[in-house]
Amino acid sequence: PIRVRLTGVGGYLPREVVTNDDLARKFGIETSDEWIKTRTGIGQRHIASDDETTSSMAAEAARQALEYADVDASQVDAVLVATATPDQVFPAVAVQVQARLGMTAGFGFDISAACSGFVYALATATALMQSGQAKKVLVIGSEVFSRLLDWTDRSTCVLFGDGAGAVLLETGAGEGEGVLSTHLHSDGRTGDILYVDGAAGCPSTSQHLRMQGREVFRHAVVKLSQAVDEALEVNGLTGQDIQWMVPHQANLRIIDGMAKKLALPADRVVVTVDRHANTSAASIPLALNEAVRDGRVRKGDLVLMEALGGGLTWGSALIRM
Ligand code: ACO
Repeated sequence: PIRVRLTGVGGYLPREVVTNDDLARKFGIETSDEWIKTRTGIGQRHIASDDETTSSMAAEAARQALEYADVDASQVDAVLVATATPDQVFPAVAVQVQARLGMTAGFGFDISAACSGFVYALATATALMQSGQAKKVLVIGSEVFSRLLDWTDRSTCVLFGDGAGAVLLETGAGEGEGVLSTHLHSDGRTGDILYVDGAAGCPSTSQHLRMQGREVFRHAVVKLSQAVDEALEVNGLTGQDIQWMVPHQANLRIIDGMAKKLALPADRVVVTVDRHANTSAASIPLALNEAVRDGRVRKGDLVLMEALGGGLTWGSALIRM
């Protein structure tokens, strides 16, 4: 069988940092550091400037992942970008990334699964590789949610940030190594609790993110637990076997809830939500990039990823680094 290993990581965060206090003082939002921190764990977020786009950030994160793996862009067979905030409806961000990287061969496409997008893209890339259609694939999550937010709605605008994360996947993992399994789910019946109001295909739209926060919270821990149990069961593992949880970074309370469920101590959980806020599809690869580069996540470690987002979509992945 063809086995897929993760060989490179990269990330990009916009230059501008906006603290919770900045939101209240400079942006005139009726909120406070205390309100945001106690409910979400968020202390600040990065916000893209005009020259920082989903494709530019994606390309920079991808460049870093290629450099980490010592692979040239010309060797890459496919680029998959998970995003809800493309620069344009088409061409896809992935195709723009190909151009930015100087690629003249291979293929690229975007994946729409909101905050679960990275797990969806990872699963898709792994399947393409296992079926022999690609040997080296860049999997990227890149988002500028700041351009999707209703800045007059304090219940949502304080929660998100911008950024991009990337991994390089290559075939050739040994037995029990690399991507062990991926698990995807979605249920459109809950589409109304977290959504973007319209798009180019809709006659009248605001294109702002809308959310019923409590409802999302209620679904999150239940559905994430199911996806994690599924991943452990399929691989004959228990929570004790996991070295690192690299969760989607929506909210510290959800992350803590999942860690508790798995009986994982806090120092086995990679947290960036305090500094990045929720970067949607970018949050998992950004967190992984940080933890690999600072030496926490090492070769041989078992890493659990999990995410839930608009759709609802949710899923998990287990990777032996
Ligand atoms: N600052 C100050 N007060 C605020 C703010 C704010 N930024 N936002 C809302 N409030 C007020 C509300 O107006 C309300 O006031 P009221 O009682 O006078 O009407 C009060 O705070 C409580 O509002 P709720 O929305 O009920 O607050 P809640 O305790 O549910 O916390 C939160 C909101 C943090 C969004 C929570 O529901 C949550 O974490 N949900 C999970 C959703 C999530 O993480 N989504 C991210 C996207 S999805 C994903 O990535 C998984």
